[in-house]
Amino acid sequence: MRRKLAAGNWKMNGTGEALTALEAIAGAHPAATVDLLICPPATLLYRAAQAVSGSRVRIGGQDCHAANAGAHTGDISASMLADAGASAVILGHSERRADHGETDAQVCDKARAALDAGLIAIICIGETLAQREAGQTLDVVCAQLAGSVPDGIDGSRVVIAYEPVWAIGTGLVPTLEQIAEVHDTLRQQLIGRFGSETAEAIRLLYGGSVKPGNAAEIFAVSNVDGALVGGASLSAADFSPIVTAL
Ligand code: G3H
Repeated sequence: MRRKLAAGNWKMNGTGEALTALEAIAGAHPAATVDLLICPPATLLYRAAQAVSGSRVRIGGQDCHAANAGAHTGDISASMLADAGASAVILGHSERRADHGETDAQVCDKARAALDAGLIAIICIGETLAQREAGQTLDVVCAQLAGSVPDGIDGSRVVIAYEPVWAIGTGLVPTLEQIAEVHDTLRQQLIGRFGSETAEAIRLLYGGSVKPGNAAEIFAVSNVDGALVGGASLSAADFSPIVTAL
């Protein structure tokens, strides 16, 4: 049985004062039966981990380098994230694929490093609007899935986040049928590659304009095991109803 996961991606938002919102999120769900994760900017990781200590909320990074250490100015390794208090890391977000040219192969290497460091790897995939309109969605996400997920995984430590690029930060959301089509396809692809036991342990999150008003219906879709939430994870007022809907 997969545990549901409500994950928040703060992206490049938040300085010290944002810890107040994090504490409010942590305080709102003292007995949550779902997994809760907030991924703040790297500068806040340590303080965030301290702030949620003893609560149900865990802290994650937003990227890591594939190497454990070395001459990579500005980069952060998976073991450094773990040392700062992270238990997970988002990898291959479309904003990193677009802004930094990250490829599936690079995301795969990063995921391996994250798993080796004991982190949960949240691997993001999703089609652009042009790809959706060209009828390429399933081909695109299946190729990203195949290229971005390492071999030999423990399914319980891998999370796939399906995030249509055109739904991120736009207020646009696919139909429930479109979400189901992608998630069901991803599950079948994972079963074909890893076998049922591993594949059924992998959580599939939906991400892209998840809000309090649409969370419940999205969570009712088959093979949706939670959400990766951007903007609505920045405040307890928006994130807590999403957690409750899960
Ligand atoms: O990682 C989160 C996603 O990019 C979704 O962002 O909820 O602001 O659309 P959003």
